[in-house]
This record gives sequence, C-alpha cells and structure tokens, in this order.
Amino acid sequence: MPSFELRVLETPDLESAADLHRAAFAPLGERGWTRQEMAELIASPGVSGVVLLTASEAAGFALCRVAVDEAELLTIAVDAAQRRRGAGRALLAAVIERVRAAGATTLFLEVGADNPAALALYNQNDFHTVGRRAGYYARGAGPAADALVMRRTLMPGG
Ligand SMILES: CC(C)(COP(=O)(O)OP(=O)(O)OC[C@H]1O[C@@H](n2cnc3c(N)ncnc32)[C@H](O)[C@@H]1OP(=O)(O)O)[C@@H](O)C(=O)NCCC(=O)NCCS
Repeated sequence: MPSFELRVLETPDLESAADLHRAAFAPLGERGWTRQEMAELIASPGVSGVVLLTASEAAGFALCRVAVDEAELLTIAVDAAQRRRGAGRALLAAVIERVRAAGATTLFLEVGADNPAALALYNQNDFHTVGRRAGYYARGAGPAADALVMRRTLMPGG
C-alpha cells in the first residue's frame, strides 16, 4: 500500500465503517452491521476500533473488545479496491498493539471456514485454530459455513 494512516476509530467514522462492512460482507452472504449497531457496539465496555485511511478516505477498519486479559477481534474489513496491499495486516497489527497495551494476553477471533483470504491473514499472523462451531454462519441459499475459533497469545515476544 503506497501510503496510509492508521488511527483510532471515532464516531464520525461510523458511517464509512458501516459502508465498508456492508460491502465486505455481502459477498460472503452476511448482512453488514449498520451505523447504529456499530455505535452501540463501540459504546459497550472494552470495545474500540482502528481505521485505516488512504488519501483521507477510510479504506478499512477493525473493531476489538478487551475484557481483563482476553481480547476479541470483532470484525475487520478492507475496501475491495485496496486489498492485497497490506491494509489488513496493518489493521491487525494495530489491533494487537492496542489490546496488548490494554492488558490482553490472548486475542481470539471467529472466521468462516469458507473465507480463505481471512484465514490466510490470520495464519500468517500466528493465530491457531482452537475450536469449530458447526454451521455457525448462514450463507443465504447455500449451506451454512462452520466458524473456526482462532487464538493468538500476546505474551511479550509472542
Ligand atoms: C481479510 C481482509 C481483511 C484482508 O485484507 P487485505 O488488505 O487484502 O490483507 P493484506 O493485503 O494485508 O494481506 C495480508 C495477508 O493475508 C493473506 N491474504 C489476504 N487476502 C488474501 C487472498 N485473497 N487470498 C489469499 N491470501 C490472502 C496473504 O497471506 C496476505 O499476505 P501477502 O499479500 O503478503 O501474501 C479482506 O480480504 C477483507 O476485508 N475481506 C472481507 C471481510 C472479511 O472476510 N473479514 C474477515 C472476517 S473474519
């Protein structure tokens, strides 16, 4: 990615984040989260986000939750036109830095077993599968997809 800026996601970013979420998850057969749903989410305890900007436009974002020493990646999405340029990796790194600074020692996430791009991103970043929820994600007319639960430890040097 030529040049981008990462910063904490704030309320004015929610409109763009909802647009990015809808566009990113529709091809997976999932309904995107609305601006209102995200506003409620980031108002809940321990939830925050990061946004990645290119030329002042939001090109990706991620939301996470920290509860004591455990954190969860709630979602991550990159504009389709900006993919495979390191934005997803940069957002994930920013989330890891953020939750680690907040005291988390473990980061969990859930990902569709039918989502090779996300699985490759997580495998490349030291996440390991620790569980599977059968038929967790409805996929429109097609069969539901399993969710893989993945974990990465965030211990110093980990
Ligand atoms: C998953 C997603 C966030 C990745 O964003 P991205 O900006 O394209 O990711 P990056 O360019 O940082 O890629 C980092 C690594 O992830 C892997 N990767 C990303 N997209 C991939 C793809 N389409 N196929 C295979 N591997 C892929 C590669 O290992 C890549 O490293 P490389 O480019 O050096 O080979 C993006 O595809 C997306 O928004 N998808 C739709 C929403 C989604 O599935 N979110 C995750 C739900 S759990």
